[in-house]
Amino acid sequence: MILLGVNVDHVATLRQARYRDEPNSFGGFVEPDPASMAWLAEDAGADGITMHVREDRRHVQVEDVERYLERKKTRLNLEVSLSEEMVELALSLEPDSVCLVPENRMEVTTEGGLDVVANLSRAEEAVRAFDNKNIPTSMFIDPDASQLEASAKIGSPWVELHTGSFARAWPNKEKREKELSILREGMEVGISLGLQVNAGHGINYENVESAKSLLRVTEFNIGHSIICRALEHGLADSVSTMRRLLNS
Ligand code: PXP
Repeated sequence: MILLGVNVDHVATLRQARYRDEPNSFGGFVEPDPASMAWLAEDAGADGITMHVREDRRHVQVEDVERYLERKKTRLNLEVSLSEEMVELALSLEPDSVCLVPENRMEVTTEGGLDVVANLSRAEEAVRAFDNKNIPTSMFIDPDASQLEASAKIGSPWVELHTGSFARAWPNKEKREKELSILREGMEVGISLGLQVNAGHGINYENVESAKSLLRVTEFNIGHSIICRALEHGLADSVSTMRRLLNS
């Protein structure tokens, strides 16, 4: 069974589109609320919740995380960058796991994998700091052997393979199969190195059918597509449908 982590960042993106500069207008009424959507997703079958607090606080706010934690029913996977400030913040929030991601101020959402090879000592320090608090760390990386080996070398127990190239290649069967085989190879290398292998980015209701052929992946983290479907069908439906597709 592949677990489903629901990423609620896009709920915050929608809220910030209206209220970024005026949180106290409209009598202080601000919507939508990422914490409420996270609790709803948990009730509908999410195995975990992912939130990404960015350096520039563009989407999810620290208050969203704190609010969610007050009534958390599953577990929080907190995404942060490798910067000292963000690692300190993540340590103080005590999530159930941390995923280290690259950050680029110009991107709308996370676009490439973290370069663990180029940031080896900084990443190792972060893994050690989280490990001291019994928080497993995941490296969000491209399915590349050198990144997998570097992640294992610094003692990160988990990795999350970036599935963006597979999702982009989806319309072309040949390219899709090529990207899938790269991911499959990455999955096998990761497992042979003793890593728990998760995956995410760009997985949706159409491509999940072939993404789930990555049978030894522990968890898929899915955000955009679930939140989009929720606009039409409601969040409970979108989470339970994805759960069913993932494991049918
Ligand atoms: N995994 C990570 C590390 C992410 O940063 C994101 C969001 O970009 C996702 C998974 C989910 O991606 P999507 O919103 O495309 O489903």
